[in-house]
Amino acid sequence: MHTHLIAPSLLSADFARLGEESKHVLEAGADLLHLDVMDNHYVPNLTVGPLVCKALRDYGINAAIDVHLMTNPVDRLITDFAQAGASNITIHPEASKHVDRSLDLIHSHHCRAGLAINPGTTLHYLEYLLDKIDILLIMSVNPGFGGQAFIPSVLAKIQKARQLIQASGRNIYLAVDGGINKENIKQVAQAGADFFVAGSAIFTQSDYKKAIADLRSELTHANT
Ligand code: DX5
Ligand code: ZN
Repeated sequence: MHTHLIAPSLLSADFARLGEESKHVLEAGADLLHLDVMDNHYVPNLTVGPLVCKALRDYGINAAIDVHLMTNPVDRLITDFAQAGASNITIHPEASKHVDRSLDLIHSHHCRAGLAINPGTTLHYLEYLLDKIDILLIMSVNPGFGGQAFIPSVLAKIQKARQLIQASGRNIYLAVDGGINKENIKQVAQAGADFFVAGSAIFTQSDYKKAIADLRSELTHANT
């Protein structure tokens, strides 16, 4: 297992001040930034494209940018986001016609490749794809919006995913995205996650440092 990573989702940040917000949350102790890309087609919401990722880089953001592509199709945007400075690119298998090829495409740009599994999707995609991914992102809400409630049945899926990763012997991050807060993060960690995306739990707070410290303090208790 890796050390725990906390990735604030910029979806809940102030979009008019995205550069500042990104810097602020990194100074407050975030490990990396999670950028939710929604296309009003794969999900019923519309957010940002590669220009915004590039703008964050130009603004001086050097931390890893974890791009979560909720778009269909994915391939063109994989290349565009890689060129715009993405570090990790995670795709939904249902959104790519040739998901194995899309994962290769992400690696060809020297980015980490992630696969996102929706709440209603089983882990069957992993049977032939586990070898190709660096991040497994378990969705604990249906993709499309921030501020939704964590779906508890996902905990069992996280446990199962942890077992599969363990059995593979590969160095894969197990990320969880949606509804993570200081009340449930410990349980999510105990189920086997080591990478936590949190939007509203951080950006609705006035003190980001305290919000992140609260999450981390729960994580230090996860082993007890
Ligand atoms: C949902 C996004 C999440 C979301 C998380 O489609 O993938 O990253 O912004 O936000 P919270 O933590 O508020 O559920
Ligand atoms: Zn996300």
